[in-house]
Amino acid sequence: MSMGYVFVKQSRPLIGEVSLSGAKNAALVIMASLLLTRGKSILRNIPALTDVYEMILILKSAGAIVEYDAQENILNVDTTHIDPQNLNQEAIRKFRASILILGPILAQYKEAKIAMPGGCAIGARPVDYHIKNFQKLGAEVWQDQDCLYAKAPKMNAQRLVLDYPSVGATENLLMALTLVDGESWIVNAALEPEVLDLITVLQKMGACIEVCPPAMIKITGVSKLNPVDHSIISDRLEAGSLLIASSITKGDIFIPNANAYEMELFLMKLEEMGHTITVGKNGEGVRLKATKTPRAVSFKTGPYPGFPTDLQALMMAAQTIAQGNCNIVETVFENRFMHIPEMNKMGAKISATGHYAQLEGVQGLVGTDVIATDLRAACALVLLGLAADGETRVQNGVHHWKRGYETLDEKLRSLGAFVELR
Ligand code: EPZ
Repeated sequence: MSMGYVFVKQSRPLIGEVSLSGAKNAALVIMASLLLTRGKSILRNIPALTDVYEMILILKSAGAIVEYDAQENILNVDTTHIDPQNLNQEAIRKFRASILILGPILAQYKEAKIAMPGGCAIGARPVDYHIKNFQKLGAEVWQDQDCLYAKAPKMNAQRLVLDYPSVGATENLLMALTLVDGESWIVNAALEPEVLDLITVLQKMGACIEVCPPAMIKITGVSKLNPVDHSIISDRLEAGSLLIASSITKGDIFIPNANAYEMELFLMKLEEMGHTITVGKNGEGVRLKATKTPRAVSFKTGPYPGFPTDLQALMMAAQTIAQGNCNIVETVFENRFMHIPEMNKMGAKISATGHYAQLEGVQGLVGTDVIATDLRAACALVLLGLAADGETRVQNGVHHWKRGYETLDEKLRSLGAFVELR
């Protein structure tokens, strides 16, 4: 089945100003968190993405009344009558973040049956940290070949220690713990901006949550959480994509609603390439005026505030036509280098073994047909197409693009790019 392709032509330097959409990785978990409340909530700045529509289907199948205005990006959700017995398992199976309904349903309705999404291109994406820690809270959790089952008539406050600062495990357990009597802790927690936005929403609902150094979250359970009106944070990953577009086309792009404090290591690396980064007051607003002679820089991904794995492919793209050599290490996912052969088809010089990639900057690239393997790789290949001679077709690109980017193609065109979803 053709999932469409993104058609890109070599473009002049991208110049101008664009604003960000809401963050996909905040929207999905915050939508799931509404299952902790009974009543009418409003979420604003919700981006019109494939996974958002899938999460709407899941909420509706749980009995919520959902209205979404994709123009205004406003989502109205009434969770007065929820019955999680007939969840839309087809929709759950379609994307990884659907696992995030487990915590809210278990805490509020005491039992859950969730279709297990398969692995995906970037890795097996197991959920063992989620399962192990729900069991520590007293839940009975088991699975068959395609579903996960959980029963928790009562969960007990615990001090949970995560093997790894997993974003999803932190979010799932945090949501459940808001309604578990007593004082619980999550140690070695993920504290990405999207996790902090979820914490803000839960606190607005009436949850008692405290973030404590070095990476711990203290939750004191309450008996009830109330509906909420919340506008989610802007998407730092879309910001990264736009700044790389400026770097790769030697352009000059300003993003007024980017939060520089959410991407400090990423911005530092762009400055080390020789680009001029200007940041507004309190980190509000970021401009990248690209250098004509970018230097290649090495980097290594890691949990926040480390270099985000979701910007690894994009930053790699910027290095392909920079001067010199660099090393790139992907420490978060076990298989997130599948964009390398595709970039090499365009003339990049990248080799990889395991988690390590070595890159030698080249003078220029040539457009051709390439294949997108995940949504961030799709974006990286599109941006390479903007710099490459001739035309590039990113196969499977539209399918992945619509999962992660609400109107990024429109934004790129407004800056002078030739890019079309076909
Ligand atoms: C979230 O995925 C994001 N997705 C990902 O963004 C992001 O790449 C990732 O966090 C890391 O920042 C959403 O928020 C919807 P993890 P998540 O649990 O929660 C392993 C994108 O492009 N692990 O932090 O699934 C896991 O395999 C997506 O927008 C276990 O081993 O990521 C990975 O190697 C891609 N067992 C590492 O931990 C578990 O139980 C980090 O995963 C859970 C995770």
